[in-house]
Amino acid sequence: MKKLVPFLTYAASAALVAAAPSLTVDAGRPSGKVSPRLYGLMTEEINHCYDGGLYAELIRNRAFLEDARTPVHWSAVSDEGSGAAIALDATDSYNGKLTTSLRLKVDKAARGHPAGVANSGYWGIPVHPNTRYRVSLLVRSDPGFSGPLAVSIVGEDGKLVYARETFSGLSSKWNRFEATLKTRRMVPTAKARFQVTLDQPGTVWLGLVSLFPPTWNDRPNGLRKDLMQMLVDLKPKFLRFPGGNYLEGDTVETRFEWKKTLGPITERRGHPCPWGYRSTDGMGLLEFLEWCQDMKAEPVLAVYAGYSLRGMHVNPGPELEPYVREALEEIEYVTGDTSTPWGARRARDGHPKPFKLTYVEIGNEDWFDRSNSYDARFAQFYDAIKARYPRLKTISTIANDQPETLRVHSRRPDVIDEHYYRSTDEFLAMSPDYARNYDRSGPGIFVGEWAAHEDGRIKPWDAAAGRQPPTPSMKAALGDAAFMAAMERNSDLILMQCYAPLFVNVNPGARQWRPDLIGYDALSAYGSPSYYALQMFSRNLGDEILPVQSAETSVQGAATRDRRTGEVFVKLVNPQPKPERLQLELKGIASLASEASVITLAAAPEDTNSIEHPRNVVPATTTVRRLQPVFNYTLPPHSIVVFKFKSRP
Ligand code: AHR
Repeated sequence: MKKLVPFLTYAASAALVAAAPSLTVDAGRPSGKVSPRLYGLMTEEINHCYDGGLYAELIRNRAFLEDARTPVHWSAVSDEGSGAAIALDATDSYNGKLTTSLRLKVDKAARGHPAGVANSGYWGIPVHPNTRYRVSLLVRSDPGFSGPLAVSIVGEDGKLVYARETFSGLSSKWNRFEATLKTRRMVPTAKARFQVTLDQPGTVWLGLVSLFPPTWNDRPNGLRKDLMQMLVDLKPKFLRFPGGNYLEGDTVETRFEWKKTLGPITERRGHPCPWGYRSTDGMGLLEFLEWCQDMKAEPVLAVYAGYSLRGMHVNPGPELEPYVREALEEIEYVTGDTSTPWGARRARDGHPKPFKLTYVEIGNEDWFDRSNSYDARFAQFYDAIKARYPRLKTISTIANDQPETLRVHSRRPDVIDEHYYRSTDEFLAMSPDYARNYDRSGPGIFVGEWAAHEDGRIKPWDAAAGRQPPTPSMKAALGDAAFMAAMERNSDLILMQCYAPLFVNVNPGARQWRPDLIGYDALSAYGSPSYYALQMFSRNLGDEILPVQSAETSVQGAATRDRRTGEVFVKLVNPQPKPERLQLELKGIASLASEASVITLAAAPEDTNSIEHPRNVVPATTTVRRLQPVFNYTLPPHSIVVFKFKSRP
């Protein structure tokens, strides 16, 4: 893996064989500007990323639409002195969207012997001490039964009650009830369930049952706080949504139909997601946009472009026109002021202020469309978007290494999306030369999905179903870091990049793909070594690229400088199993401070983090003192190191 600088003559290179490993950063000759949006996030519904993940709803199958035959995740509750039966009922439903309800018939119950129905949540209901949970439910009852009806969060055996409230005034018309359930001192647990019970005989129908813990920024239909904190800590500049395959759907009918994701949750029926389960659509278009706002990130909006995963495509021309219109209306919902029809709709949904939008991605991975229709489909979207929104930039989903026949030729996309799922060894091999030969005049590059896998032979979907841990080990983080360094060196052209997938609910039934950046269960979350590598890179970035040259070493690196503060960030990756003593030279820096911070992530390749051991592999910060522009530093084996040098701007 040793590399010689390419322009040396034979005599000079022979002399270097004995030379020390070295790396030079040339601050006197910046090679370009760092893209202001380089680090971002990619997201879609996969691995229970939203339902059972970031979207904080705790009730699973809240609208009884997951399975038309049986109320999955709900079970009847009774004891020796009570009895209840539950069944789905498609008559007299709440509205045309929530077409099923749950009939709860309590035959026998008394005070101290309630009967009812319990929900087991997404692999448990997480309960925390001294916490307020917002419960709401749609209920109607048999004439003559007006309550009371109790809602409670209880332990798994139903005996330990963490919080309880009652409602009365039920009637044969649908009513919405809501209350706050407040827990007291207790030990946090996910071994809990949510119950709706009666303590006398009666029949009630439940429409939609919802339970929310406190959410990020207190949004009513909001996001899980611990996961949001982890994302905010990455300082993402953009969020690519809603997919990925989730945008496309298995079929045209099951694409992400944004209009069906607006308004109160009682108006959202949800839809089957291509990853094998039903999405509630609780994460709708406005929730995505507010999520961006809460992270101070810009949306990168992917619009459905007429291709779905089972190989269906919509013919360009008149057949595609409704989808083009849908995309224009979607852009208007995001960016239009309140005088526009869809801007006004956004205001009615609670957000009058338009969102900033720069990039629109047309489809996803359209190289899978073997009908070769993408060029014409792209052109139709491109023309319509540019005519209405000339300042918007369009992203094509077919990279330049795909066959000519699939790519876009009739228009010039502003940006091209490339996806890389590679083994660590492949990333280490490709990174030194990545993008070196790209045309610097554009189009710009968006690496919209990428991740290093420890072993390229294992397919992500097979691995998800098997025994491999859901999140990557240190070995993958080394490949990730080498590739991130390559993207930084080329960040004049690589405008945006985002790791994928972002999230995984670690419960075995929840996963479809590995590896994933962040793992969680109902109660807690952790970052993989790759998460920390990304954090080290994204939080330590300047705005101009400094050339890096190495000799006699397999260490890979990148350097940037913040022109405002003078700070220089040097990132190094040592993939080898031995320490590497490097001579580091900082050329062209006036007034280098004598101290620098060093952040190090180092571990054995197989080391990783998990729910049980969330901080096994985490970065450590130290200080180097008595710095000179040329100094020696020993990188630990298998390490990622970020230097933060101070100098005068
Ligand atoms: O990230 C997982 C999947 O990989 C995405 O949905 C798809 O775009 C890609 O093939």
